[in-house]
Amino acid sequence: MATIIDGKAYAAKLREQVGAEVAELKTKHKITPGLAVVLVGADPASEIYVNSKGKMCREAGMESFDFRMPDTTTEAELLAKIKALNEDKKVNGILVQLPLPKHINESAVINAIDPLKDVDGFHVINAGKLATGQQGLVPCTPFGCLLLIKSVLGDDLSGKNAVIIGRSNIVGKPMANLLLNANCTVTITHSRTKNLAELCARAHIVVAAVGKPEMVKGEWIKNGAVVIDVGINRITLSDGSKKLVGDVAFAEAAERAKAITPVPGGVGPMTIACLLSNTVKAACLQHNIQPQVFYPPYSSDCFTISPNSSSKPK
Ligand code: GUN
Repeated sequence: MATIIDGKAYAAKLREQVGAEVAELKTKHKITPGLAVVLVGADPASEIYVNSKGKMCREAGMESFDFRMPDTTTEAELLAKIKALNEDKKVNGILVQLPLPKHINESAVINAIDPLKDVDGFHVINAGKLATGQQGLVPCTPFGCLLLIKSVLGDDLSGKNAVIIGRSNIVGKPMANLLLNANCTVTITHSRTKNLAELCARAHIVVAAVGKPEMVKGEWIKNGAVVIDVGINRITLSDGSKKLVGDVAFAEAAERAKAITPVPGGVGPMTIACLLSNTVKAACLQHNIQPQVFYPPYSSDCFTISPNSSSKPK
């Protein structure tokens, strides 16, 4: 039976570590990192995410600035808001919650964010830096997945076969680049891929980010693989009750995997912890300070650095 990867516990440790770094930035450099979150419209799921981001930010000792804009907001109005946030010294990180209303061009909005404040890592400059192995801000969810993978397999992922299911700009593509930078042999699969089961059967690492409930079957999983489930799908059971499930048939996969993330409580909590970490990193980059948490090569050892230790970033 697989070890169940406790993303909630890892995320709590990460947030603690980020909090320690924030405290140091305040005392040594008189900087309080600030994160601005912009929500356009009133999507209930997005509201929950945004509230939670603000709360965790404050808990880590950072400033949180929330901007709620009506769904009638024009692209020009949103771009003007981003320009103001780009120029605001108290704001080190800017996150525009996606999806945006249909009449707004998402790429135009993302690429209007100062790349140094792009804590989502979605700007083409940050995506390009990741793709070419340069320092930049890395998307939070795949970053969290990488840390969970390293928490099981250690820092050296060289030569591992990794199969990523899903090719989104938010998860699949940056995940592929992170694993490629870690010397894995990476296969990106998607809705048109043939023989997905065969490809999975050779994978030491499977990352499922496709948004299809329990699509990845247990029999596809290689014995001893690490399975990371990014999916969050709400399904209705035969008795009418609702349940959250991932993209992986958890119970079946757990019989073969070495380790697997649950849904909920796996990848989800890591995303916000990595967002906080990115905000601290952004503040450091803007002030020419060497960040500590998660400095490349993103060692999973960051979990073991005590808040007051003098450990150098790895
Ligand atoms: N919507 C769903 N996931 C994300 C994310 O990681 N960042 C932003 N900005 N919006 C999202």
